[in-house]
Amino acid sequence: MTSPAPAQALTQDELKAQVGRAALDYVVKGEIVGVGTGSTVNKFIDALATIKSEIRGAVSSSVASTERLQALGIPVFDSNEVEELAVYIDGADEIDGRGYMIKGGGAALTREKIVAGQSRRFVCIADSSKLVNTLGAFPLPVEVIPMATQRVIRQFARLGGQAQVRLKDGAPLVTDNGQHIIDVTGLRITDPLGFETEVNQWPGVITVGVFARQRASVCLLGTSSGVRTMRFG
Ligand code: 5RP
Repeated sequence: MTSPAPAQALTQDELKAQVGRAALDYVVKGEIVGVGTGSTVNKFIDALATIKSEIRGAVSSSVASTERLQALGIPVFDSNEVEELAVYIDGADEIDGRGYMIKGGGAALTREKIVAGQSRRFVCIADSSKLVNTLGAFPLPVEVIPMATQRVIRQFARLGGQAQVRLKDGAPLVTDNGQHIIDVTGLRITDPLGFETEVNQWPGVITVGVFARQRASVCLLGTSSGVRTMRFG
Protein backbone atom coordinates (compact mmCIF):
# COMPACT_ATOMS: atom_id res chain seq x y z
CA MET A 1 0.00 0.00 0.00
CA THR A 2 1.28 3.43 -0.85
CA SER A 3 -0.05 6.59 0.71
CA PRO A 4 -1.02 9.47 -1.59
CA ALA A 5 1.77 11.94 -2.33
CA PRO A 6 1.43 15.10 -0.22
CA ALA A 7 -0.02 18.08 -2.09
CA GLN A 8 2.81 20.15 -3.51
CA ALA A 9 3.24 23.56 -1.91
CA LEU A 10 2.35 26.41 -4.23
CA THR A 11 5.07 28.89 -5.11
CA GLN A 12 4.75 32.47 -3.93
CA ASP A 13 4.00 33.44 -7.53
CA GLU A 14 1.14 30.89 -7.68
CA LEU A 15 -0.24 32.14 -4.36
CA LYS A 16 -0.25 35.69 -5.74
CA ALA A 17 -2.03 34.55 -8.91
CA GLN A 18 -4.59 32.70 -6.77
CA VAL A 19 -5.56 35.79 -4.76
CA GLY A 20 -5.40 37.98 -7.86
CA ARG A 21 -8.10 35.83 -9.45
CA ALA A 22 -10.10 35.61 -6.20
CA ALA A 23 -10.29 39.40 -6.04
CA LEU A 24 -12.45 39.43 -9.18
CA ASP A 25 -15.38 38.42 -6.93
CA TYR A 26 -15.15 41.85 -5.27
CA VAL A 27 -15.14 43.88 -8.51
CA VAL A 28 -18.48 45.62 -8.98
CA LYS A 29 -19.78 45.16 -12.52
CA GLY A 30 -20.41 48.35 -14.48
CA GLU A 31 -18.21 50.43 -12.16
CA ILE A 32 -14.67 51.80 -11.99
CA VAL A 33 -12.30 49.80 -9.80
CA GLY A 34 -9.38 51.15 -7.76
CA VAL A 35 -6.15 49.35 -8.57
CA GLY A 36 -3.00 49.22 -6.44
CA THR A 37 0.60 48.45 -7.31
CA GLY A 38 3.00 45.52 -7.07
CA SER A 39 3.57 41.96 -8.18
CA THR A 40 0.36 40.66 -6.57
CA VAL A 41 -1.69 43.43 -8.12
CA ASN A 42 -0.10 42.62 -11.49
CA LYS A 43 -1.75 39.19 -11.20
CA PHE A 44 -5.02 40.91 -10.39
CA ILE A 45 -4.70 43.22 -13.40
CA ASP A 46 -4.10 40.20 -15.66
CA ALA A 47 -7.25 38.58 -14.24
CA LEU A 48 -9.19 41.85 -14.55
CA ALA A 49 -8.43 41.92 -18.27
CA THR A 50 -10.56 38.78 -18.68
CA ILE A 51 -13.66 40.71 -17.50
CA LYS A 52 -12.75 44.13 -18.89
CA SER A 53 -15.96 44.39 -20.90
CA GLU A 54 -17.90 44.20 -17.60
CA ILE A 55 -16.28 47.24 -15.95
CA ARG A 56 -15.98 50.90 -16.95
CA GLY A 57 -12.30 51.05 -16.14
CA ALA A 58 -9.85 51.70 -13.32
CA VAL A 59 -8.29 54.40 -11.18
CA SER A 60 -4.64 53.48 -10.80
CA SER A 61 -2.16 54.10 -7.98
CA SER A 62 1.04 54.24 -10.04
CA VAL A 63 2.51 54.82 -13.46
CA ALA A 64 3.50 51.12 -13.57
CA SER A 65 -0.07 49.91 -12.94
CA THR A 66 -1.47 52.47 -15.39
CA GLU A 67 0.83 51.16 -18.12
CA ARG A 68 -0.13 47.55 -17.43
CA LEU A 69 -3.86 48.35 -17.36
CA GLN A 70 -3.70 50.31 -20.60
CA ALA A 71 -1.59 47.65 -22.33
CA LEU A 72 -4.40 45.20 -21.57
CA GLY A 73 -7.06 47.55 -22.93
CA ILE A 74 -8.52 48.69 -19.58
CA PRO A 75 -9.40 52.43 -19.57
CA VAL A 76 -7.68 54.38 -16.79
CA PHE A 77 -9.43 57.38 -15.20
CA ASP A 78 -7.75 60.21 -13.28
CA SER A 79 -8.69 59.98 -9.59
CA ASN A 80 -10.04 63.55 -9.80
CA GLU A 81 -12.65 62.42 -12.32
CA VAL A 82 -14.20 59.99 -9.85
CA GLU A 83 -15.82 60.95 -6.56
CA GLU A 84 -16.04 57.53 -4.97
CA LEU A 85 -15.01 54.00 -5.84
CA ALA A 86 -16.83 50.91 -4.62
CA VAL A 87 -13.65 48.95 -4.13
CA TYR A 88 -9.87 49.31 -4.08
CA ILE A 89 -7.74 46.22 -4.59
CA ASP A 90 -4.10 46.26 -3.54
CA GLY A 91 -1.33 44.20 -1.99
CA ALA A 92 0.61 44.78 1.23
CA ASP A 93 4.08 44.25 2.62
CA GLU A 94 2.61 43.31 6.00
CA ILE A 95 -0.93 42.95 7.32
CA ASP A 96 -1.97 42.22 10.89
CA GLY A 97 -5.05 40.56 12.37
CA ARG A 98 -6.92 43.90 12.44
CA GLY A 99 -6.38 44.82 8.81
CA TYR A 100 -3.64 47.36 9.53
CA MET A 101 -0.87 47.26 6.94
CA ILE A 102 2.59 48.37 5.96
CA LYS A 103 2.71 49.32 2.29
CA GLY A 104 5.08 51.10 -0.04
CA GLY A 105 7.60 48.41 -0.93
CA GLY A 106 6.89 49.43 -4.52
CA ALA A 107 7.27 53.16 -3.66
CA ALA A 108 3.63 53.90 -4.57
CA LEU A 109 2.32 54.44 -1.03
CA THR A 110 1.07 58.02 -1.41
CA ARG A 111 -1.05 57.37 -4.49
CA GLU A 112 -2.16 54.07 -2.95
CA LYS A 113 -3.42 55.93 0.11
CA ILE A 114 -5.20 58.47 -2.07
CA VAL A 115 -7.08 55.83 -4.06
CA ALA A 116 -7.77 53.76 -0.93
CA GLY A 117 -9.14 56.91 0.69
CA GLN A 118 -11.70 57.43 -2.06
CA SER A 119 -12.87 53.81 -1.93
CA ARG A 120 -15.66 52.38 0.20
CA ARG A 121 -13.89 49.05 0.61
CA PHE A 122 -10.20 48.03 0.60
CA VAL A 123 -9.60 44.44 -0.46
CA CYS A 124 -6.04 43.44 0.35
CA ILE A 125 -4.56 40.57 -1.66
CA ALA A 126 -1.47 38.92 -0.24
CA ASP A 127 0.32 35.63 0.12
CA SER A 128 0.41 34.17 3.61
CA SER A 129 3.99 35.35 4.29
CA LYS A 130 2.58 38.90 4.70
CA LEU A 131 0.46 38.10 7.77
CA VAL A 132 2.14 39.30 10.99
CA ASN A 133 1.23 39.75 14.64
CA THR A 134 2.84 43.20 14.93
CA LEU A 135 3.79 45.56 12.10
CA GLY A 136 7.41 46.63 11.74
CA ALA A 137 9.63 43.74 10.67
CA PHE A 138 9.32 44.93 7.06
CA PRO A 139 11.31 48.18 6.63
CA LEU A 140 8.72 50.94 6.85
CA PRO A 141 8.59 53.09 3.67
CA VAL A 142 8.03 56.81 4.11
CA GLU A 143 7.74 59.24 1.20
CA VAL A 144 9.54 62.48 2.02
CA ILE A 145 10.32 65.82 0.45
CA PRO A 146 14.09 65.64 -0.15
CA MET A 147 14.96 68.83 1.80
CA ALA A 148 13.48 67.23 4.95
CA THR A 149 15.13 63.81 4.62
CA GLN A 150 17.83 64.14 7.28
CA ARG A 151 15.47 65.76 9.79
CA VAL A 152 12.95 62.94 9.35
CA ILE A 153 15.74 60.35 9.68
CA ARG A 154 16.75 61.95 13.01
CA GLN A 155 13.14 61.93 14.22
CA PHE A 156 12.91 58.20 13.52
CA ALA A 157 16.19 57.65 15.40
CA ARG A 158 14.51 59.14 18.49
CA LEU A 159 11.84 56.42 18.17
CA GLY A 160 14.55 53.74 17.89
CA GLY A 161 14.32 53.41 14.09
CA GLN A 162 17.19 53.34 11.63
CA ALA A 163 16.25 55.00 8.35
CA GLN A 164 17.98 54.83 4.98
CA VAL A 165 17.26 56.61 1.75
CA ARG A 166 16.06 54.11 -0.88
CA LEU A 167 18.40 54.00 -3.82
CA LYS A 168 17.96 53.07 -7.46
CA ASP A 169 21.02 52.69 -9.68
CA GLY A 170 23.13 54.32 -6.97
CA ALA A 171 21.02 57.49 -6.63
CA PRO A 172 17.96 58.25 -4.48
CA LEU A 173 14.89 56.64 -6.01
CA VAL A 174 12.46 59.24 -7.34
CA THR A 175 8.79 58.40 -6.87
CA ASP A 176 5.96 59.02 -9.35
CA ASN A 177 5.43 62.24 -7.35
CA GLY A 178 9.04 63.39 -7.80
CA GLN A 179 9.96 62.75 -4.15
CA HIS A 180 12.20 60.33 -2.19
CA ILE A 181 11.57 57.28 -0.02
CA ILE A 182 13.24 56.38 3.26
CA ASP A 183 12.96 52.84 4.66
CA VAL A 184 12.95 52.50 8.45
CA THR A 185 13.99 49.36 10.33
CA GLY A 186 13.94 48.63 14.06
CA LEU A 187 10.34 49.69 14.71
CA ARG A 188 7.62 47.69 16.42
CA ILE A 189 4.35 49.41 15.62
CA THR A 190 1.90 48.42 18.33
CA ASP A 191 -0.45 51.39 17.83
CA PRO A 192 -0.74 51.79 14.02
CA LEU A 193 -3.42 54.50 14.21
CA GLY A 194 -1.47 56.67 16.65
CA PHE A 195 1.79 56.07 14.82
CA GLU A 196 0.35 57.00 11.42
CA THR A 197 -1.25 60.13 12.83
CA GLU A 198 1.96 61.28 14.51
CA VAL A 199 4.42 60.62 11.68
CA ASN A 200 2.14 62.13 9.04
CA GLN A 201 2.40 65.44 10.92
CA TRP A 202 6.18 65.67 10.76
CA PRO A 203 7.18 68.47 8.39
CA GLY A 204 8.42 67.04 5.09
CA VAL A 205 6.65 63.70 5.43
CA ILE A 206 4.29 63.20 2.51
CA THR A 207 2.96 59.82 3.60
CA VAL A 208 4.03 57.14 6.03
CA GLY A 209 3.53 53.58 4.80
CA VAL A 210 1.33 52.57 7.74
CA PHE A 211 -2.22 52.12 6.47
CA ALA A 212 -4.35 52.37 9.60
CA ARG A 213 -6.95 54.98 8.64
CA GLN A 214 -7.15 53.29 5.26
CA ARG A 215 -6.90 49.77 6.65
CA ALA A 216 -8.18 46.73 4.78
CA SER A 217 -11.85 45.80 5.02
CA VAL A 218 -11.09 42.31 3.71
CA CYS A 219 -7.88 40.37 3.14
CA LEU A 220 -7.66 37.49 0.66
CA LEU A 221 -4.71 35.53 1.91
CA GLY A 222 -3.13 32.99 -0.42
CA THR A 223 -2.25 29.74 1.35
CA SER A 224 -1.28 26.32 0.05
CA SER A 225 -4.70 25.04 1.09
CA GLY A 226 -6.59 27.81 -0.75
CA VAL A 227 -7.65 31.41 -0.30
CA ARG A 228 -8.36 32.37 3.30
CA THR A 229 -10.74 35.34 3.66
CA MET A 230 -10.22 37.63 6.65
CA ARG A 231 -12.85 40.31 7.31
CA PHE A 232 -12.14 43.31 9.50
CA GLY A 233 -15.57 44.90 9.90
C1 5RP B 1 3.58 49.07 -3.46
C2 5RP B 1 2.93 48.31 -2.38
C3 5RP B 1 2.65 46.87 -2.63
O1 5RP B 1 1.29 46.62 -2.41
C4 5RP B 1 3.44 46.03 -1.69
O2 5RP B 1 4.81 46.41 -1.80
C5 5RP B 1 3.29 44.55 -1.98
O3 5RP B 1 3.88 44.26 -3.20
P1 5RP B 1 3.96 42.79 -3.78
O4 5RP B 1 2.58 42.41 -4.16
O5 5RP B 1 4.90 42.93 -4.96
O6 5RP B 1 4.53 41.90 -2.72
O7 5RP B 1 2.61 48.80 -1.33
O8 5RP B 1 3.91 50.37 -3.06
